[in-house]
Amino acid sequence: MNSVQEAASKGVPVIPIPLFADQYRNAKMLEYRKTALALNAKDLTVEKLTKAINEIIEDDRYHRNAKKLAAMIAAKPMSAEERVVRYTEFAAQFGPDLNLDITIVDLGCGPGNSTKLLFDRWPNASITGVDSSADMITKAKEHHPMLKFEQGDAGAWLPQNSVDLIFANALFQWIPNHLKVFQNLIKNALKPNGVLAIQMPDNFQEPTHVLMREVAQDKRWYSKLQNQARTELPNVNTYYNTLLEDNLSSHVDIWHTIYYHPLDGPSAIVEWLKGTGLRPFLDPLDEDGQREFIQLYTEKLTKAYEPCVDGKVLLRYPRIFIVAQKSDQHNK
Ligand SMILES: C[S@@+](CC[C@H](N)C(=O)[O-])C[C@H]1O[C@@H](n2cnc3c(N)ncnc32)[C@H](O)[C@@H]1O
Repeated sequence: MNSVQEAASKGVPVIPIPLFADQYRNAKMLEYRKTALALNAKDLTVEKLTKAINEIIEDDRYHRNAKKLAAMIAAKPMSAEERVVRYTEFAAQFGPDLNLDITIVDLGCGPGNSTKLLFDRWPNASITGVDSSADMITKAKEHHPMLKFEQGDAGAWLPQNSVDLIFANALFQWIPNHLKVFQNLIKNALKPNGVLAIQMPDNFQEPTHVLMREVAQDKRWYSKLQNQARTELPNVNTYYNTLLEDNLSSHVDIWHTIYYHPLDGPSAIVEWLKGTGLRPFLDPLDEDGQREFIQLYTEKLTKAYEPCVDGKVLLRYPRIFIVAQKSDQHNK
């Protein structure tokens, strides 16, 4: 029995300071039950520790919750010993449960927000975030020390051992030949029956994107921006056919969801897009160029996005979702 189970079954509150492996998950589990006050080892100080000890001693709710948890453990229909025996027999009969030991990769993980969501959903999985930006990987490691991150180019990346789930949120719209990349990932990175799950903004024909390309035609910066526009995504039939080619996938689901974001006005649309779609157009310009580009773009957005009764504008944002399950005929 580990110390977390021991504390839980004895009905005492704890102050976990997780350092590695499943300690993060165990601390989170106790915090969820409100029987613990976890501290971060990286910024631990005497003041923080003293404050936590005082709080946990003085706030009676921790004691009550801990007693309740211990009572629940004692009254469980199956004891811990019995459970170990039963699950061992189960594994011997059916093999490992997929939910227990799946391997997941979050391609284009950014600062790790999407990786953390995967961890929340599958806390027992082995999860790796991959991003081409060294800066993003540093941030991700800082924010989520319990998860694994590595630098890599999603266009060419392959794992050492094939994985159960490849997840990529808001990445592949930046990789023009992604149809080939999808096929390569399914063939060479997924286990049989593994899943490729993709989300991409599908907004090439939205006024936001039509107008940024229109502004890029202005002679003040045309020579710098002429090849900067992203290419349009292939149509859904192309995705469907490509993913099913040569029996690569046994099942393909594709759907669109259109989000309408109420924003404070055209300048708020610009702020939103500065971090994403506008980057290829703004990055090559100097400060004056960027200001003039944004001024002209904002004027055009003002004509295209009609204000609503509350003064907000609705930013229409279509997104495409693609989920393909690898066929079991493509064993590695
Ligand atoms: C919009 S962010 C999405 C981040 C994260 N998936 C999320 O949902 O919060 C796109 C990320 O893709 C990364 N990226 C762009 N091109 C890439 C490539 N060829 N290989 C790996 N990562 C890439 C960027 O560095 C950025 O962090």
